[in-house]
Amino acid sequence: MEELGGISRLDSATIGAVTQPSSAGHNPPDLEKRLNAIFSRYYGEKGELLSLLQVVQDEFGFLPLEAMLAAARFLHVPESKVYGVATFYNQFRFTPPGRHPVRVCMGTACHMAGGQLVLEAAERTLDIKVGGLTPDGEFGLERVACVGCCAIAPVMVVGETVQPRMTPFRVEEVFAARKAQTGQTPKQE
Ligand code: FES
Repeated sequence: MEELGGISRLDSATIGAVTQPSSAGHNPPDLEKRLNAIFSRYYGEKGELLSLLQVVQDEFGFLPLEAMLAAARFLHVPESKVYGVATFYNQFRFTPPGRHPVRVCMGTACHMAGGQLVLEAAERTLDIKVGGLTPDGEFGLERVACVGCCAIAPVMVVGETVQPRMTPFRVEEVFAARKAQTGQTPKQE
């Protein structure tokens, strides 16, 4: 297994120049140790890339830039290939999920019931785009496939709480209620 020591600034600059991934600067604790534990379960073959990225995301909740660079080195594939695969599948995210992940369902039932409007309202209210993180790290926004609550579509899940029958107005209500509870405002003025 290839150890991760020696991830070079040149590598980082190269991938940054090509991709400008938003995961730069978000390094979880014990990154190298945790990556080595993951890599030890693989052979280091090209065909393992997608599976490896999925396991890395399961571990960290997103794909840190240093992890993508390390995966490229471990599998002996170009960094641009790793980023290309990571961005092709919308299951991957490049920023941490936030202390309260906000998941807007875009499965068929929710999409038909106005999920896109809910998603846009969440973007406006949180003042971030899908895949983004509020500056205070409280909320990360993502779109997900069916979460299994189609009867109450469209659905938004904040942390572990399923919010049913969402409308753009209800999105504002949900975050206003959270603001009242926590004293935190999701939108950075
Ligand atoms: S499609 Fe959204 S819960 Fe099933």
